[in-house]
Amino acid sequence: MEFIYNPVTDSAKECSCRQLRIQERRQAFADIPVHFSNITLDTFRTDVYEQYNRLQIANILKTVRCYIDEFEELKADGLGLYIYSHTKGSGKTRLAVSIASELLKQGHRVKFATAISILNEIKASWQRNDSNINESTLLNDLTQTDILVIDDFGQEKISEWVNNEFYHIINERYALSKVTIYTSNCTLDELMYDERITSRIKEKSIMLEFPEESVRDLIAKNNNDMMKNRIQEIR
Ligand SMILES: Nc1ncnc2c1ncn2[C@@H]1O[C@H](COP(=O)(O)OP(=O)(O)OP(=O)(O)O)[C@@H](O)[C@H]1O
Ligand SMILES: [Mg+2]
Repeated sequence: MEFIYNPVTDSAKECSCRQLRIQERRQAFADIPVHFSNITLDTFRTDVYEQYNRLQIANILKTVRCYIDEFEELKADGLGLYIYSHTKGSGKTRLAVSIASELLKQGHRVKFATAISILNEIKASWQRNDSNINESTLLNDLTQTDILVIDDFGQEKISEWVNNEFYHIINERYALSKVTIYTSNCTLDELMYDERITSRIKEKSIMLEFPEESVRDLIAKNNNDMMKNRIQEIR
């Protein structure tokens, strides 16, 4: 069959294929952890928290929705988020990923990384001869991306080198007015980093304090209860 080029539909197809490829590349670059792939804000539940914490969670979600709606304007100022609670498993990473996915869908360049993996990647790049992934390209990705999620900030052992690496990344992003979203088990004041880092984070972050409650513990309890019930049904 003869191939007939239709300038209207074929160029539209080409265009949507290209868009798809760009979106796939962005998705791969974002590096969202498998555990949280396909997680959206709509599946962020409030009923998994104790009744007395639900207002706090509802307010957090309200702030986040407003943040996403007004993102174009906030982005111009490089205004990010600092999401924290001392309790492990309260939902900080899940929320950060949900926001990142939403902004990714809107066409922004997003990158997710834990603070420890950033440091490990930099160290690993010293051993590589591969010129595609040297320290400067890595730092370039981290400083240039529209939105960087630094998960578990403050869990790493802080040495002078660690301070300097994060100062470089955070200061560069500060200077370029790029958005950074942090999750942490520490308040900003508790972070053991230099003030040159924390004061920049303070200026450029909306603070989101999570309830001191572990959804992870609740999930674990539900899983164990479910298993016990199944075993009882078998007996
Ligand atoms: N609001 C929620 N609705 C549904 N699932 C949730 C919610 N919050 C947390 N979870 C689930 O609970 C688990 C722990 O959440 P998450 O990893 O986001 O906690 P965290 O606060 O980042 O913990 P950590 O301090 O250890 O980093 C995950 O499996 C997550 O999907
Ligand atoms: Mg986390």
